[in-house]
Amino acid sequence: MSRRFPDDVPVLTDGMVTLRPHRPADADGVVEQCADPASVRFTTVPRPYGPQQAREFLELVRREWEESSPTSARFWAIGLGQHPGPVTFAGSIDYRPSGAGTAEVGYGLHPMARGRGLAVRALNLVLDQAFGEDGIEVMHWRAVVGNWPSRRTAWRSGFRVEGTVRQLCPLPGRAQDGWIGSLHRDDPRRPCEPWPMDS
Ligand SMILES: CC(C)(COP(=O)(O)OP(=O)(O)OC[C@H]1O[C@@H](n2cnc3c(N)ncnc32)[C@H](O)[C@@H]1OP(=O)(O)O)[C@@H](O)C(=O)NCCC(=O)NCCS
Repeated sequence: MSRRFPDDVPVLTDGMVTLRPHRPADADGVVEQCADPASVRFTTVPRPYGPQQAREFLELVRREWEESSPTSARFWAIGLGQHPGPVTFAGSIDYRPSGAGTAEVGYGLHPMARGRGLAVRALNLVLDQAFGEDGIEVMHWRAVVGNWPSRRTAWRSGFRVEGTVRQLCPLPGRAQDGWIGSLHRDDPRRPCEPWPMDS
């Protein structure tokens, strides 16, 4: 089933954060986010990252939604504010279905939007959509070892970290060791184990 972009992208909101389709006007924010040192250190964004890379990303987002195959990625812009009002670009979140009932989630915030608990709100909205309407049974998460903000976000949503895998994360130039975790659709959406730094 193909979808029209942006009209058929479900808009998801909890009143503070709104997940909405990306817009061409988000390109500057995408560049600022992806050129930021934390994104470069912990994600697979191309480097260097400029307007051309942002245009390619926004085109990829459109293609994936329009294709809407069982393995097409679902991307949302994370917006601050309530739809349909002005919803400022604050980052992106996506999940990539395997086609076999599982998927992997990925998220990143614009540096100006960090430190306010927005990622966990965005993650919970995507989990509701994935486990609900989209029929995903298990969501996987992975992060480069040492990416504590990402791990804490996943931990808050109930993900269980199940291991550290050598060279799990193929970052440009060199694969990095990674943490891997999962959340089943029936798992509680709250921490399932003590925060490792507290134990
Ligand atoms: C991951 C990311 C989206 C989280 O954004 P955020 O929600 O603003 O995250 P915060 O800065 O509030 O940090 C989340 C939590 O981790 C904690 N934290 C941050 N740095 C930490 C550290 N070095 N050690 C331990 N905890 C840390 C914060 O205190 C916060 O805790 P809280 O939930 O109790 O408030 C953001 O850091 C980001 O965009 N990073 C770059 C891209 C990226 O790494 N994406 C994930 C790839 S897997």
